[in-house]
Amino acid sequence: MPAIVLIGAQWGDEGKGKATDLLGDRVDYVVKFNGGNNAGHTVVVGDKKYALHLLPSGILSPGVTPVISNGVVVDIEVLFHELEALAARGVDVSKLLVSANAHVITAYHRTLDKVTERFLGKKQIGTTGRGIGPSYADKINRVGIRIQDLFDEGILRQKVEGALDLKNHILVKVYNRRAITADEVIDDLLSYTDRLRPMVADTSLVLNRALDEGKTVLFEGGQATMLDVDHGTYPFVTSSNATSGGAATGSGVAPNRIDRVIAVVKAYTTRVGAGPFPTELFDESGEFLRSQGFEFGTTTGRPRRCGWYDAPIARYSARINGVTDFVLTKLDVLTGLEKIPVCVAYDVEGVRVDEVPVSQSDFHHAVPIYEEFPGWSEDITGAREFSDLPVNAQNYVLAIEKMSNARISAIGVGPGRDEIVVRHDLLE
Ligand code: GDP
Ligand code: IMO
Ligand code: MG
Repeated sequence: MPAIVLIGAQWGDEGKGKATDLLGDRVDYVVKFNGGNNAGHTVVVGDKKYALHLLPSGILSPGVTPVISNGVVVDIEVLFHELEALAARGVDVSKLLVSANAHVITAYHRTLDKVTERFLGKKQIGTTGRGIGPSYADKINRVGIRIQDLFDEGILRQKVEGALDLKNHILVKVYNRRAITADEVIDDLLSYTDRLRPMVADTSLVLNRALDEGKTVLFEGGQATMLDVDHGTYPFVTSSNATSGGAATGSGVAPNRIDRVIAVVKAYTTRVGAGPFPTELFDESGEFLRSQGFEFGTTTGRPRRCGWYDAPIARYSARINGVTDFVLTKLDVLTGLEKIPVCVAYDVEGVRVDEVPVSQSDFHHAVPIYEEFPGWSEDITGAREFSDLPVNAQNYVLAIEKMSNARISAIGVGPGRDEIVVRHDLLE
């Protein structure tokens, strides 16, 4: 099973980091293909807890070559900060490869992210403030800075000056901020070049050759389907393609080389930041999920908005991504609930709608239609076989599997590496 894509099915924080870590021993490369340090993956290994942002979670597995491919936006200061922190904890980070074509996040991207959000006031997206949107905007506007530009000072100066020309007018005249000089940006970027040079590669070539040799490559998506710039709840999305198609454009590995698409989906739903969320709970049930599931952002520490499982969203994800397998996470968090509602369809202005509506205003007005399932009270964190789960937990999984249009191949029953029930091998 050479090329596997692993993505989030909902609004992020489904447990992609843990799922990647689970497969880490059996893969040769783990590729981060989209996003940047807006991601936050918590991986628990024994009594150690790691929080990864820019680096692919596969970096924690000793045999793996971690790759940051062309689709990523790289904040180089964050990159070295994370590498140093992991190295200090004994993780071997020496194999990391970074694409020469990846774009960089500079000081002006971070500043613009924050000031534009402030400017939007009540209409803000609730970004992570890491400069992700402005860096991708520059890429699309063809005024971005790429990793390879750092190795040609003349080109770098030309590009930074070009990019800052308009931005400084905007920063000073629209946002009343100080201008940023080209020198400060260039000096900062050049201070990393010596350390960066050995990591920089043609990662598309490396990955295609690895696949030719029969190696196993796992593409780990940041963010998730409903945050995808094309297929998510636009404009309340991130600025990259977090769906499986993004793995191809974001890495230079063609779609016909991809063998399997694994979507990680929570047994309920969470969202950080603004935007529509039909099953969101504002009562004590939402509080229950937040406290039982410890739903606070890994990147910004913000409390996550919580709601019930939304089957139309899972079906939508199955369709957009070509999901072959779901990894259902955090089933243990539902333990103790008497009844568990699942959204099976929406009521949009009196009309039953079974699929995610294409119109954003319909989605904003969608009221969930729920079906209720009986809960369980037994501790399930020790379950390792499907039959170890209480019958009501089994029935809940089987019911949502039927509604979600792809098989549920693994079930998370706790944050630890081994707290998982595997029903079908994810790599076979
Ligand atoms: P990611 O961004 O998709 O990698 O997910 P995050 O790491 O942001 O959030 C998922 C959180 O849930 C992390 O704290 C994980 O340790 C935790 N987690 C993952 N799977 C499970 C599970 O099956 N049960 C429980 N209780 N926690 C889990
Ligand atoms: P992982 O990989 C959850 C959200 C932000 C905001 C929107 C745009 O951990 O699942 P951005 O800074 O990307 O421009 O913010 O996207 N967001 C995430 N939400 N998990 C993430 O990553 C996210 N990355 C971005 O909260 O609503
Ligand atoms: Mg996260």
